[in-house]
Amino acid sequence: MEDAPAGSDTLVGMTTPSWPAWPLFDLRLGCRGVVLRPVREADLPLLAAIQPADWEHDPGAELLPALDLSQNRARLCYQDYWRSVGTWSPSSWCLQFAVESEGAVAGVQSLEAEQFPVLRTVGSGSWLIPAVRRRGIGVAMRLAVLGLAFDHLDALAAVTAATPDNAASLGVSRRIGYADNGVCLTNSGRGVVELIQLRLTAAAWRASGHAAEVTVTGFEPCRPWFGLPAPGPGRAADRTAAS
Ligand SMILES: CC(C)(COP(=O)(O)OP(=O)(O)OC[C@H]1O[C@@H](n2cnc3c(N)ncnc32)[C@H](O)[C@@H]1OP(=O)(O)O)[C@@H](O)C(=O)NCCC(=O)NCCS
Repeated sequence: MEDAPAGSDTLVGMTTPSWPAWPLFDLRLGCRGVVLRPVREADLPLLAAIQPADWEHDPGAELLPALDLSQNRARLCYQDYWRSVGTWSPSSWCLQFAVESEGAVAGVQSLEAEQFPVLRTVGSGSWLIPAVRRRGIGVAMRLAVLGLAFDHLDALAAVTAATPDNAASLGVSRRIGYADNGVCLTNSGRGVVELIQLRLTAAAWRASGHAAEVTVTGFEPCRPWFGLPAPGPGRAADRTAAS
């Protein structure tokens, strides 16, 4: 599907997109030594192979009966990517980032929204390979996408939800400053389960000071993808959140 133009992997800091028809591929986020770059088709074999067993795909996803669970999960990894790219619109989008730590891909962090121009609310999802967990990478990669959301997309709130036994997911959210926002029920595919909901407002984000830790490059050409006005000659090309 894609052939990377020369030099497209060395774009940090550049403002001219290597992918003018799909500038999202040139986005780069950084936080606390962790680098996030959009997932590309070439990443899929690795991501399908390393996705951890405790990462749950959409419980409503249809499984192909002739495939075992592992084969179905690998297939869903591909289809999640193609769906997110193929169905992108400013009102409904999901941006998946490959997370690189110490030069190697260690997981995925997604940022997503429905009716974003109206609701200005983002959600997120993430996974890491077990070998790198409990080192703060989960917090760093969530901070990175929150920096994109609050300081570049002008989001008003970020929401997330996790089952009460997902201490890691809840730990990331609470460490960052999300506030409890009630509970809800969902059909997990294995019965109805309770989800703890959390919410982080733009005001809480600004008060936290985390914005200064996040760098975002390659964003300006992406503005129309999020329903924002196209970059004009007077706009700063790119900025860290702190500047
Ligand atoms: C969620 C996930 C990405 C977190 O990554 P991580 O790098 O291990 O998290 P961090 O090291 O940044 O830890 C963040 C906080 O959670 C706590 N935490 C992490 N894992 C924990 C665990 N298994 N049990 C209890 N607390 C945990 C940490 O102590 C830390 O809290 P603190 O700063 O108050 O000490 C990772 O555990 C994972 O991939 N889980 C499987 C997939 C999943 O459930 N994803 C979330 C659903 S969207």
